[in-house]
Amino acid sequence: MDMMRVFGLTWVAILWVCLTLHGVASDDHQPLSKIAIHKATFALHDLAYIKVTPPILGIKGGNSEWVTLDYGHSEPTADDWIGVFSPANFSASICPAESPRTYAPLLCTAPIKFQYANHSNPKYKETGRGTMRLQLINQRSDFSFVLFTGGLSNPKLVAVSNVITFANPKAPVYPRLAQGKSWNEMTVTWTSGYGIDEAEPFVEWGPIGGERTKSPAGTLTFHRSSMCGAPARTVGWRHPGFIHTSFLKDLWPNSLYIYRLGHSQFNGTYVWSQNYKFKSSPYPGQESLQQVIIFGDMGKDEMDGSNEYNNYQRGSLNTTRQLINDLENIDIVFHIGDICYANGYMSQWDQFTAQIEPIASRVPYMIASGNHERDWPGTGSFYGNYDSGGECGVAAQTMFYTPAENRAKFWYATDYGMFRFCIAHTEEDWREGTEQYKFIEHCLASVDRQKQPWLIFLAHRVLGYSSSEWYMEEGTTEEPMGRETLQKLWQKYKVDIALFGHVHNYERTCPIYENICTRKGRDYYQGPLNGTIHVVAGGAGASLTEFANFQPRWSLYRDFDYGFVKLTAFDHSNLLFEYKKSRDGKVYDSFRISRDYRDILACFADSCPPGTLAS
Ligand SMILES: [Fe+2]
Repeated sequence: MDMMRVFGLTWVAILWVCLTLHGVASDDHQPLSKIAIHKATFALHDLAYIKVTPPILGIKGGNSEWVTLDYGHSEPTADDWIGVFSPANFSASICPAESPRTYAPLLCTAPIKFQYANHSNPKYKETGRGTMRLQLINQRSDFSFVLFTGGLSNPKLVAVSNVITFANPKAPVYPRLAQGKSWNEMTVTWTSGYGIDEAEPFVEWGPIGGERTKSPAGTLTFHRSSMCGAPARTVGWRHPGFIHTSFLKDLWPNSLYIYRLGHSQFNGTYVWSQNYKFKSSPYPGQESLQQVIIFGDMGKDEMDGSNEYNNYQRGSLNTTRQLINDLENIDIVFHIGDICYANGYMSQWDQFTAQIEPIASRVPYMIASGNHERDWPGTGSFYGNYDSGGECGVAAQTMFYTPAENRAKFWYATDYGMFRFCIAHTEEDWREGTEQYKFIEHCLASVDRQKQPWLIFLAHRVLGYSSSEWYMEEGTTEEPMGRETLQKLWQKYKVDIALFGHVHNYERTCPIYENICTRKGRDYYQGPLNGTIHVVAGGAGASLTEFANFQPRWSLYRDFDYGFVKLTAFDHSNLLFEYKKSRDGKVYDSFRISRDYRDILACFADSCPPGTLAS
């Protein structure tokens, strides 16, 4: 039976099934959720075709390659489109309905990307012919391409392509570094197609120019049954592969290391990745130049322009590009929630980890969890919405390592030289009396400020101050029960800066406590801050959020554009804060803090315990 016939029969078998993507989407953010495959009909057309070259990708070892599509249709329409499916001969299994808004039976596979047939062929509608280039990444499976007519909302399948594949679809890919549980441990997490019954994963590493050693890696994966609902459990499901993490221990401070990913196969052969390098963390309290990037809500985007149904994440590639260009001047990155907006379409996690690989393979890429990673009704998330598309935190907590005591809970502390970072999880309860509240207090209280003067609080949703339209229309400037609960901790422990995402813009406040600016000035603070500076840095990629017309007095700078924040500690007394736009990497807002240890000890409005009159 030839390949086309196999595909034809598979599609016939599949497409009589009424399936749905429509209505299960938790929001309008994920472009793949726009495809109403539930209405798809099978209409293979003799005069329609689609061919893809080259047949084998990554022959030289690469994990990303451009392919060329040639296609034609005797009855072309303006909304003909092409879907890319992987695996090529995908599962025809039937999923049960997982949400009250979906109806069984359901097909379990969405395309991994799509593009309109006339995208780079303005005359397609007249000629019925087109060519297109798409970028594919190694995602552990082969690929097929399907030409649909009838638009995204009423698709009719008219042609299926040949199958193409990467030379080694199982190759170890997309390493991401993260700080371990102690300052002298770096973790390397990567994805492969090798389960533990096929090969042993490890990292070969050592100081540059020095002896190399091998450290074993643990292997995790998760299953459709690990997902909490649709589409993650239905059409968005795609096997995530095997996620390996190795712990590189006893590192020397501020030192350069080289590493590569390996799999020792049971037949005695090895599979290797390319070489990568990283710089280890400074000893906590150590004085050296320390440069930190912080942003939220970056999302992913496609270099080939695919999936941009509503142009949702156009800032993402610009932010990624700026960080790559400035990588020599970056020591660690914090992506504080709303990571890739996969929203239950699991293929998108591979594409995101591929997008950030140049960054995450070089410097620790620390994540926080947002609504698009965690929220799902009836699963203990603080907000009972559908924003995670059924992932309920499982994908994020497996794809990325965090030094959390319990990776499902997503709050953790991490030190970088003169910085202490306390990362909260706004998708779980933080109020007084909760486990998370205790963690936050302990994280803030347990740092020696003489050694680590720069105390930074990070969380996804705005628990501090934002004058975005969303909040101010509700008559507030934060998530309910945000700062009412936490400001006494920020004040007592003298948090310097609290940064948040979720709101897709940039805003910076004065040093503030209980709605009152505690210091005058905009760009230079000498001596005690007396309050905490609050920053919204949620404009790294996802579509922008409007500000309210009214700008409160505490709001010193607002920017309706894509951007990210950089903190530079020069020493124990001098910190530079910069906000850069993603479009050009230039600084548009900045301030400096210059102060000594005694300024941190200084008491101001509830920041010290009551003293005694005795002397
Ligand atoms: Fe969010």
